[in-house]
Amino acid sequence: MRKIAVCPGSFDPITLGHLDIIERAASLFEKVIVLVSFNTQKNPSFSVEERIAMINSVVSGMDNVVVDCWDGLLADYLKDRKATAIVKGLRAVTDFEYEFSMALANKKLYEGAETVFLTTSEENLYLSSSLVKEIARFGGDISSFVPPQVHDVIKERLKRK
Ligand code: PNS
Repeated sequence: MRKIAVCPGSFDPITLGHLDIIERAASLFEKVIVLVSFNTQKNPSFSVEERIAMINSVVSGMDNVVVDCWDGLLADYLKDRKATAIVKGLRAVTDFEYEFSMALANKKLYEGAETVFLTTSEENLYLSSSLVKEIARFGGDISSFVPPQVHDVIKERLKRK
């Protein structure tokens, strides 16, 4: 059976931290689905279409990675696609409680949902989409935080008129 992993997130926008986790998941699993999902706690700055287009431009050279979106429970998506794992990056202790409760809830909702945590690479420990957006809005340099393919789109979209 093909082992399918899902990398879910808001990806608002995709950062080098996300890309690092996607690349490492792609080396561990036969197929990886990068899933733009809905976080009810967040109000995204980019539309779902914009986020998908940005991710597609970044992963286009990766043979076993596809991009999708889902407006529902992650556990239901896994069941529907017969995916076996949820891959998430863990940055610090602050991520842990939230990620741990989500992992347990997903497992409760669908027994087949195993969450695999990858330790974020050291250089991305502090990195988040919110940080990127804040820097871009004030005209700062985001080139060491986001993949080059999406740099200009993010700068242009968030620049203050
Ligand atoms: O990048 P984020 O915002 O931290 O990702 C969180 C996300 C989108 C993966 C999470 O909110 C999610 O799984 N949303 C889908 C709806 C769902 O299944 N919620 C219950 C999770 S236990």
